[in-house]
Amino acid sequence: MASFDFFAPCPRGLEEALAAELAELGRLAPLSVGKQVPGGVHFAGPWAAGIAANLHSRIASRVLLRVASQGYRSEQDIYDFAVTQRWEEWFSYQQTLRIDVTAIKAPVRSLEFVTLRIKDAVCDRLREKTGARPNIDTAQPDVRVFAFLTATDATLYLDTSGEALFKRGWRLDKGAAPLRENLAAGILRIAGWRADTAANLSLYDPMCGSGTFLAEAAQIALAVPPGANRRFGFEKLKGYDITAWQSLKVAAMDAQRDARARGVPDTIFGSDISGDMLVKARANLERAGVGDVGLKQVDARDMTPPCEGAGIIVTNPPYGERIEVRGRRPSRAAEDEDYDDGGRGQFSRARPDTLDADFYRAFGDTLKQRFTGWSAYLLTTDMSLPGQLRLRESRRTPLFNGALECRLFRFDLIAGAVRKRNGDSATGDAAPESGE
Ligand SMILES: C[S@@+](CC[C@H](N)C(=O)[O-])C[C@H]1O[C@@H](n2cnc3c(N)ncnc32)[C@H](O)[C@@H]1O
Repeated sequence: MASFDFFAPCPRGLEEALAAELAELGRLAPLSVGKQVPGGVHFAGPWAAGIAANLHSRIASRVLLRVASQGYRSEQDIYDFAVTQRWEEWFSYQQTLRIDVTAIKAPVRSLEFVTLRIKDAVCDRLREKTGARPNIDTAQPDVRVFAFLTATDATLYLDTSGEALFKRGWRLDKGAAPLRENLAAGILRIAGWRADTAANLSLYDPMCGSGTFLAEAAQIALAVPPGANRRFGFEKLKGYDITAWQSLKVAAMDAQRDARARGVPDTIFGSDISGDMLVKARANLERAGVGDVGLKQVDARDMTPPCEGAGIIVTNPPYGERIEVRGRRPSRAAEDEDYDDGGRGQFSRARPDTLDADFYRAFGDTLKQRFTGWSAYLLTTDMSLPGQLRLRESRRTPLFNGALECRLFRFDLIAGAVRKRNGDSATGDAAPESGE
């Protein structure tokens, strides 16, 4: 059986989680996990391995099939290298094409020019071998060729995913600032949320927005493949293993049907201050096939544990750059400000810094006072979040949400182990809080 080299890009910071996820896919197809590099993981195996990764990886952004790699010195070298590849064995001139180039320290004039040269090479090759050139379609191509350049080497890949894998096919409405589904899934994995823990661990997103964490968590709990409701780029390529695809697809459909019959475990909860966001979350959850997740409209400062016993909070609070804290709340620091929300629960911000500070202080107090025994995982671009919450993190993981550098802070709300920044004990004995 032929073996191929694949590369799966992912949000930076999730390489280790992706490598572990790919290793688990070894149960479905022979797959050997290779090197982790910033922003992705190499793996190898037959077509079935690439197909299984497309269908089942929650963390990969794409699955790329390595075509060839070679040293180069100039754009002409790259053309000469690309024109010798047997593209006609993968697709025809009747299919539309898109070329993408990324590079690290490449000695080239411009990436646009390299993109053009690779496009010329692929089109020239197809014309020579099949009599016609394919058309370019940058919006919805049938086939995507990726090139990755280092200072010395060029690697050509064929994309097997088509649309990026974080597009699961269930998102109806994006909400104001949705998290990418694969970043959400990676965070859930870091937080220990797995199919086999879901029945005994409660999960709560108190600022759930469009419901990304909730949909991913529920699908994980039910073993619904993330790619169950979408198409893939490899379906348009010649020579992929159609038998492997059919059997993996049938197994995935069976798993999805069984899961839906069992229903979402009653351990997943979400809330948001915005009724509009909850409508969007509900629609997304329905489309993801996990409509029976419990949702409630609550200000996160007033939240209470949604269940008996402890669990995990996983959320991404409003980011300064992307979305505002909402909810009028008189406070000593803010009472002089002009907050007119027109009765809509929306916030017209006179002083965002003050509002955010008040919000995070109150949210931190709520965590300390009401969520003893829980662990909270908060994704934010704000590196000063622990100080604002007056909580000491037990772990901080650098992650990227698109181009935004974030931290995933973990707070263990152990009785007696949280402390207000000013030194007052919040829940009894306290460990000193780390500085920021
Ligand atoms: C960054 S978004 C969360 C995005 C979400 N993870 C998703 O994927 O759609 C932050 C959310 O916090 C909500 N929010 C803002 N202020 C809030 C408050 N005081 N209490 C609860 N939710 C609040 C917003 O309505 C928004 O949905």
